[in-house]
Amino acid sequence: MPQKEIPWYMNTIFYQIQIKAYCDSNNDGIGDIPGLISKLDYIKDLGVECIWIMPIYPSPMEDDGYDIADYYGVHPDYGTLADFKELVDQAHQRGLRIIADLVLNHTSDQHYWFQRSRTDPNSKYRNYYVWSDTDEKYADARIIFLDTEDSNWAFDEEAGMYYWHRFYSSQPDLNYDNPEVRMEMKKVMDFWLDLGIDGFRADAVPYLIEREGTNCENLPETHAILKDFRAYLDANYEDKILLAEANQWPEDVRQYFGEGDEFHMGFHFPVMPRIFMALRKGDASPIHWIMGKTPEIPNNTQWCTFLRNHDELTLEMVTEEERQWMWSEYAPEPRMRINLGIRRRLAPLLDNDQRKILLANALLYSLPGAPIIYYGDEIGMGDNIWLFDRNGVRTPMQWDASINAGFSDAPPEKLFAPVIDSQEHSYKEVNVKNEKQDPDSLLNKMKHLIKVRKTNPIFALGEYEFLAKDQPECLVILRKYQDSCLLCALNLTQTAQNLAVDLSNFKESKLTDIISDQDFGEAQSGITIIELSPYDFKWLSIG
Ligand code: GLC
Ligand code: CA
Repeated sequence: MPQKEIPWYMNTIFYQIQIKAYCDSNNDGIGDIPGLISKLDYIKDLGVECIWIMPIYPSPMEDDGYDIADYYGVHPDYGTLADFKELVDQAHQRGLRIIADLVLNHTSDQHYWFQRSRTDPNSKYRNYYVWSDTDEKYADARIIFLDTEDSNWAFDEEAGMYYWHRFYSSQPDLNYDNPEVRMEMKKVMDFWLDLGIDGFRADAVPYLIEREGTNCENLPETHAILKDFRAYLDANYEDKILLAEANQWPEDVRQYFGEGDEFHMGFHFPVMPRIFMALRKGDASPIHWIMGKTPEIPNNTQWCTFLRNHDELTLEMVTEEERQWMWSEYAPEPRMRINLGIRRRLAPLLDNDQRKILLANALLYSLPGAPIIYYGDEIGMGDNIWLFDRNGVRTPMQWDASINAGFSDAPPEKLFAPVIDSQEHSYKEVNVKNEKQDPDSLLNKMKHLIKVRKTNPIFALGEYEFLAKDQPECLVILRKYQDSCLLCALNLTQTAQNLAVDLSNFKESKLTDIISDQDFGEAQSGITIIELSPYDFKWLSIG
């Protein structure tokens, strides 16, 4: 594709924010939309280009807003629709885009549709959800929230029947066999797109349709519905995206791209735990392996890659043995574990070691895809495993060393969650203001890395090939795009490496370190040696 025809989402860096946790403008202890607006300059300066905001809709907050009670409003704690419109406009003025969560699979049990559904068998809403006289149907569907749920069915006294739910029992699944439900969701899409947002991160898409005798995931009927949503989007809007949250193996996620006519983007879940495995083992093979299992995708689609997000570091897409290993290495204390995952943030997972944190990010950026940064990870925020559920990785953003980390002027006990104030993770040290002043801070190094990634579209658009697989202590990736080539060499170990790479195809080409913008000698006709100190990496442009 010629450069100017490349859709924006192909080469962009995303930034994931929970409004509640970002900045509190009215000092009630809860972050809000005006608060986020006041921080847009920070986000712009960080260099990211698209913000994904987590659910902002009215909700009883049993699942932090992923349990929606009204698709057409803003939770009063967060502000008003007018504030939201202002946010979109202010972001756009700065050249930032915004995508929002589209929670298709389920609503809150407090949603009007569900309340009508359970109380009135004759209303059209009865058929909006999946009801059954028994709790025995669809027995092959796994339970996702293993720690809290023991069935995908819950009994409703009022209806005298069971309803289907893939997540918490307070989140009844919508019935996508019902065309009216599909119409409702198109109306929801219209509403938010007409307010100017740039697309949706579509939540939990594999589970829309249930069929007996299947695991009720990734069914052809589900894909047909999603393709219909995409066609609707394309027919009515321009330049908007759909990003799929499908925590599945790459060959299954591949289906969500269709022939370029389903999702624009899909998260690459299984590469994520393997980045952590590779770093801890000092061995690139888990990454070679999973990328080997990653199929090609249509050329107008893109992977979305991440290290951490608001959920547990999921270990669904690894073997039982690998899961046990990950738990013992990264979640030695039982409280660090939840469901099939680990509820910790990036910095504590990587021993608060700046070299490892930068290496993990550089590794992510060296791979194909468009990366997402989870708010706070750019400054190395810590977590709080004593908070309920996944809340320990959703604590207030740390802006400065003042009370409440500059997040809010409310009395500390009024904050929706305490700020992180323990040992080396304390907000008194780890905060935006401190790090801005220090040229060697994680924040400043992240900013530089983001800038270099973004200004070299080869990272997002180029093909890739692994080199030097016989030296698995290092991950070595050759990226190619049109006439340009780039070598990414990452030392995964705590010892210095003399990496030997065959660059004879490029012999006598000039190598330039694009991070320091310094000459790095020439590619040799035989083997080129690249010296890497512990946990160091180089991005070398060739020629
Ligand atoms: C997605 C969200 C998660 C939520 C679940 C149910 O997996 O990322 O936070 O709990 O969907 O909506
Ligand atoms: Ca507030």
